[in-house]
Amino acid sequence: MTDRAEAFHYRDGDLYCEDVPVGDLCAEHGTPLYIYSHAALTGQYKALADAFKRCDPVICYSVKSNSNLAVVRSLARLGSGADIVSGGELHRALKAGVPSDKLVFAGVGKTDREIGDALAAGILLFNIESVPEAYAIDRVARGMGVVAPVALRVNPDVDAQTHRHTTTGKKGTKFGVDIDRAVAVYKELNELPSLDLCGVHVHLGSPVTTLAAYEDALDRVVTLVESLRDVGITSVRMLNLGGGLGIVYRDEATVDVEEYAACLRRHAEALDCQLILEPGRFISGNSGVMCTQVVYRKEAGHKTFVIVDGAMNDLIRPAFYDGYHAIRPVTGAGRGTETVDVVGPVCESGDFLAKDRHMERVDEGDVLAVFSAGAYGFVMSSNYNSRPRAAEVLVMGDTASVVRERETVEDLTRGESIPDALLADQ
Ligand code: LLP
Repeated sequence: MTDRAEAFHYRDGDLYCEDVPVGDLCAEHGTPLYIYSHAALTGQYKALADAFKRCDPVICYSVKSNSNLAVVRSLARLGSGADIVSGGELHRALKAGVPSDKLVFAGVGKTDREIGDALAAGILLFNIESVPEAYAIDRVARGMGVVAPVALRVNPDVDAQTHRHTTTGKKGTKFGVDIDRAVAVYKELNELPSLDLCGVHVHLGSPVTTLAAYEDALDRVVTLVESLRDVGITSVRMLNLGGGLGIVYRDEATVDVEEYAACLRRHAEALDCQLILEPGRFISGNSGVMCTQVVYRKEAGHKTFVIVDGAMNDLIRPAFYDGYHAIRPVTGAGRGTETVDVVGPVCESGDFLAKDRHMERVDEGDVLAVFSAGAYGFVMSSNYNSRPRAAEVLVMGDTASVVRERETVEDLTRGESIPDALLADQ
């Protein structure tokens, strides 16, 4: 079982996650509810690992895409490392049992404290995003009497044609160092005694749906590493080629995993480097759904609105990236179709899950599955409008476990207090 089509499927009109009826889970745990398939998660990981097996990469699952401990643990058990971007993700990855020597740490704003914690844990690699950050890592490492393994993240100036919020490999984004300055930067950083300049890192954006962007960027990276070797910087032995591999949300064409592997392998082999990968969405995206219940139907201004109990605070991708997520009722499908907007209760016109969507007719009380919500779903949720965050459930075969409890209204005010001066009446 490797993708949503198999892990999430209909039997006699009822949606199942593996062998568990999704409707039963929603009745038991309420909505909105995130449901993940262990078989889909591990199947996707294995498909990637298989495609790359000839070059034995370090696969560092990108924790930001879905950081639930049970999800990270499911992958760590298969040998996955983790791509982390904060002290919080370091904590999660270690807690889920990811070995520290399989952790890579990216992000443009690492603080001294995060750097120190990562050095103390003994991570595999820092992906350095700027020269000042390199100096900070060198300083912190020196203070601890250790040498920090680092890869310079280069910006190859390639347009991966992703949404403007998620493109990173084009000149002018905040990520990495311009590739045309990279040799000079490596020369400068080579003088810092507590850095081991052992890698190059590149990540183009997300999701990437054509191989051409990877080909272009990797050609530039190969040229860079050859130039470094020409000027005597021979320490580069790891090639971290990031993540970004697209998935099918609707029916769009995307990159075939075998072709992706062949392209990346060819470049890593040309340089005789250890390959590192940071896949997120490819593993988690189609391994999860968000379920939400219809509260009301409403006609207004020539439109039909289906108002559901899941909102932009639960799944922000439609509002933030115009992301398309297929939506279908979890039971009793087949009642004809109509065109509707599926919207949440949050007080913003941007609060929608689908606009002008031609979909099966649904009524008040029906539960809907919002597909492809395993990546950048729950992790991007918030308490906006003082809405408690959803519960998360992991299904393994015929067994379902709550892997994060639904927040309560008490959780919403935890940590808040009213100063004494305000407690007394005027
Ligand atoms: N490595 C780096 C350095 C990254 O910045 C990212 C994602 C990844 C790996 C994993 O990319 P993936 O394989 O998941 O495509 N919230 C957006 C996506 C943001 C991606 C951020 N970086 C969305 O919902 O589409």
